Amino acid sequence: MSKRKILVTSALPYANGEIHLGHLLEYIQTDIWVRYQKMMGNECHYVCADDAHGTPIMLKADELGIDPERLIASVSERHQADFNDFAINFSQYHSTHSEENREVSEGIYHKLNDGGFIKKRVISQAFDPEKKMFLPDRFIKGDCPKCGAADQYGDNCESCGATYSTTELKNAKSVVSGASPITKESEHYFFDLPQFEDRLKKWTNAGHLQPEISNKLSEWFEQGLQQWDISRDAPYFGFQIPDVKDKYFYVWLDAPIGYMGSFRKLCNDTGIDFDEYFNKDSKTEMYHFIGKDIVYFHALFWPAILMGSNYRTPNAVYAHGFLTVNGQKMSKSRGTFIQARTYLNYLNPEYLRYYYAYKLTSKIDDIDLNLEDFKQRVNSDLVGKVVNIASRSAGFIVKNYESTLSENSIESDLYSSFADKGKEIAEMYESRNYNQAMREIMKLADKANQYIDEHKPWKLIKEEGKDVMVHEVTSLAINLFRILMTYLKPVLPVMSSAAEEFLNIDELTWDAIKQPLSNHKINKFKPMMTRIEDDQINKVIEFSRDNINNTNNDNETKEDSMIQIEDFSKIDLRIAKIVKAQSVDGADKLIQLTLDIGEESTRNVFAGIKEHYSPEDLEGRLTVLVANLAPRKMRFGVSEGMVLAASDGKSIHLLSTDSDANPGMKIR
Ligand code: MSP
Ligand code: ZN
Repeated sequence: MSKRKILVTSALPYANGEIHLGHLLEYIQTDIWVRYQKMMGNECHYVCADDAHGTPIMLKADELGIDPERLIASVSERHQADFNDFAINFSQYHSTHSEENREVSEGIYHKLNDGGFIKKRVISQAFDPEKKMFLPDRFIKGDCPKCGAADQYGDNCESCGATYSTTELKNAKSVVSGASPITKESEHYFFDLPQFEDRLKKWTNAGHLQPEISNKLSEWFEQGLQQWDISRDAPYFGFQIPDVKDKYFYVWLDAPIGYMGSFRKLCNDTGIDFDEYFNKDSKTEMYHFIGKDIVYFHALFWPAILMGSNYRTPNAVYAHGFLTVNGQKMSKSRGTFIQARTYLNYLNPEYLRYYYAYKLTSKIDDIDLNLEDFKQRVNSDLVGKVVNIASRSAGFIVKNYESTLSENSIESDLYSSFADKGKEIAEMYESRNYNQAMREIMKLADKANQYIDEHKPWKLIKEEGKDVMVHEVTSLAINLFRILMTYLKPVLPVMSSAAEEFLNIDELTWDAIKQPLSNHKINKFKPMMTRIEDDQINKVIEFSRDNINNTNNDNETKEDSMIQIEDFSKIDLRIAKIVKAQSVDGADKLIQLTLDIGEESTRNVFAGIKEHYSPEDLEGRLTVLVANLAPRKMRFGVSEGMVLAASDGKSIHLLSTDSDANPGMKIR
């Protein structure tokens, strides 16, 4: 069979939050598929990126007092560390806020525009008169027009379930500034989706989608396709629409194009031919793995955009269901809103990879992570069954047979019955029925253990003349283990490489299974996976549980006392020149400082350093001021910040800088 050329994507995670176990369902599902394709010898590229644009990201950066570029850079670093530690093996992880993506996005926009697929129209929208920006629905809150419940979001009521338009909300307030929104007009750009109706109807029924999804689409077609608003007015964090002032592409336009942007980067770096993959008549394959919540974007807008700009369309869009934990939506108060990093601090990532594989099908049903079942399943299947085969056999080989597997195998039928399953299991991976694959593999693991149980090498070894038999039984067992680890390799890459080391082979491959290892030297067995203990899971829950001291910041991890760069950059540190220093009547520890921080007016700060400095020694010195500390009213006046000093409890040392620093310089 000739080598397939495949491009695979997972949805791009938003750059304003951390990766959690819900996201990981998707990245693990995709990664398993990609690893499987590579094992089959196919050329398979797996690209992803941070989805870095949009209002929420802009506002979050605002709130932190940093540039959005800075925010997305630090989030991207953490996302990639999380993915890496879960062994998600992207060929390229990029950002939608990249030059590659800007180029592709602008190119597509021009083609759509030239093709007559972009329309302009004036619409009116809620506008925050204080913040001077248009407000997306989720940034408006007010009282439900139907039931009166307070504090409801822009377009639907959580209390009575009513949906409405934001203009109907009573006492509406901007979440950003608290101001009452006004209605304002502005010209918007639309992608003319209805022009694609016929082609889309055909495409969505041509086997590119799961049956459940095609059905959903028929409903959407019945409701009629609408033009899609693809522009947003400044201020916005995104790509400016070419030749248009103060208008930007809506984040959901350049997000799927981000798949191409990321692949473009990979091509630029490695010499892969971009056009071969994206030409209209491309012979390569392209698959998008997504969650069921973003089907509309991927099964309607995205193919239409590709059609309109004369690119190839995807071979398939594969949607998965949502993750629940212990049967319920992930919840902060229950401690089941678990971030990738929290999990990683206590548990082996391959436990989760296996458990997800054990649950994943080609359907879009939701997937439950039941933590008790998770523990039992992993302990029983991976530790109790698979690893056990090797651990109970390896000792004999190493101790009694110079670490060398036997030449013959007594039960070659058993071996071939394992090897013969390869084709079936491969098909299960190909069709994303990982759950079936895992069940087949575990059935085989049971069989291998039964085989060992029947022959009882630990007993045989004590009997006269059974030496050869023990050698053959345990060698076969190790060979069966080798087959199982080959089948599990897409799911358990790390454990597989430990198995490769133990088996003293280069690589477990599907092809190599045909031949058992014989007269082959192996290495000493080291435990490849340990059991999950309750305590580990409890700690994950504990750390994930909402804690009242924690702010509502999704980003926060409570582990250690680490802070993120955004936390640090909330602190406005400035070089300050002490222009005046005086004692404070009635306060023998305080010195009143007058500081020049490069602003028009000076700052007044009270510092508890009198025991160590006399005021006259301080005048003219440069030091560091926390300039955005909330002012504090003291008996002697208002203190407008805090100067930094080091102390061991006995002495105090005011921080100072090189004498050529200028007052007001920011410390970053
Ligand atoms: N940025 C968009 C995707 C743009 S793709 C061109 C987005 N980001 S997301 O961070 O909200 O989600 C990324 C992916 O993770 C989506 O496919 C989403 O369905 C999936 N999941 C997010 N939470 C999930 C669960 N709780 N369970 C399963 N998948 C989940 O959407
Ligand atoms: Zn209501």
